[in-house]
Amino acid sequence: MLDLIKKRRSCRKFTEEKVSPDEIDQILKSALWSPTSKNNRPWEFVVVEKAETLKALSQCKPHGSSFLSGAPLGIVVLGAPDKSDVWVEDCSIASIMMQMTAESLGLGSTWIQIRLRLGEEGNMAADNVKKIINAPDKLEVLGIMVFGHKEKERKPYSDDILLWDRVHYENM
Ligand SMILES: Cc1cc2nc3c(=O)[nH]c(=O)nc-3n(C[C@H](O)[C@H](O)[C@H](O)COP(=O)(O)O)c2cc1C
Repeated sequence: MLDLIKKRRSCRKFTEEKVSPDEIDQILKSALWSPTSKNNRPWEFVVVEKAETLKALSQCKPHGSSFLSGAPLGIVVLGAPDKSDVWVEDCSIASIMMQMTAESLGLGSTWIQIRLRLGEEGNMAADNVKKIINAPDKLEVLGIMVFGHKEKERKPYSDDILLWDRVHYENM
């Protein structure tokens, strides 16, 4: 597990190769098996592979999402506030589970933040995303997880960047 955690780096450049249906299935299983508060499971996942939809989503905010148009797969993560007051936590856990599962399959991934981010015209990026994927009003968008075959392997993390001074014992 620690080796996988050290190896996982955000990947924003992907080869043309598609993510296979079996790989997508495994990524989704890890999300659907992830823990949630009170076992409420307030998430929804929208799997996007169509190039035109990926391109539209890549334009939902001005920064940090353009690379989605060159990726083979995006999974939009949405939460239902009426099902859980901690949908953000639940959706975040599912998102990192998907990233780690992708890493275990040798795939690259990156998290695109949507919640609280503005779109190009000062509107909310989440509203842009919801329009593109036809999401109902009652759902909120957490983010878009991007997956694909890595164009290049990035250097894994090493021990020297660990912020041990952020760890406190018994009190601060
Ligand atoms: C909550 C969250 C939001 C992020 N949002 C974006 C984003 O919108 N666009 C992007 O390119 N990367 C995004 N990232 C990726 C971070 O930039 C990246 O994880 C960080 O720089 C550390 O690099 P690493 O993932 O290679 O360890 C996000 C990561 C997290 C955890």
